[in-house]
Amino acid sequence: MKIKVAPSILSADFSCLEKEIKAVEKAGADLLHVDVMDGHFVPNITIGPVVVESIRKVTRLPLDVHLMIENPFRYSEMFAKAGSDMLTFHVETVIPAECEKKFQELRARGVKIGISLNPATPFSKIKEFLDTIDFVLVMTVNPGFGGQQFMSEVIPKIKELRSFFQKDIAIDGGINDVTGKEVVAAGANVLAAGSYIFKSSDYTKAIRSLQCLC
Ligand code: DX5
Ligand code: ZN
Repeated sequence: MKIKVAPSILSADFSCLEKEIKAVEKAGADLLHVDVMDGHFVPNITIGPVVVESIRKVTRLPLDVHLMIENPFRYSEMFAKAGSDMLTFHVETVIPAECEKKFQELRARGVKIGISLNPATPFSKIKEFLDTIDFVLVMTVNPGFGGQQFMSEVIPKIKELRSFFQKDIAIDGGINDVTGKEVVAAGANVLAAGSYIFKSSDYTKAIRSLQCLC
């Protein structure tokens, strides 16, 4: 499986976001990871649909929008309209009975659907969704901030997931060339990485170092 790399703009320089996005696009990124935080589900606040709409205008990269918010179905339509190609919902935030209909509506608009789970959330919580989603995003840090340390205790969960799930498995949190290698060996094929890419002096080199881990 080819490894896809999704630079997380949370670690970019927001004073020149367009320049940063174009730089990772030119450097060979496969997706652009956009972290949406509400100050409720996670202890940080980032961006909303208005910013996603502006980002949509400056890049052709697929927008991989990671919703770390309470009540995500209240806002998902807005994020889809703003130009998200992929929307990730945390299993800790959704009402399972509402998912099938919502996911169907979003998919009808061409949006790919992912389910994410925090480090402490067991694999059993997402099992019922596996047939109705396009990818899983496994968190290897507690969501909220960039630059945190990778939690290697999540690796068995990635392996377990891979034994049930043939589609994309993305990993988010503390990814670099060393931890990336470990998660790819466990079955992951999409790597979201913020600080490893944006704090490096050579974006092309950093992105390639993850793409060639397979
Ligand atoms: C964390 C975010 C991540 C974060 C990753 O809550 O979901 O996408 O930006 O940053 P690094 O790669 O620096 O851990
Ligand atoms: Zn993220």
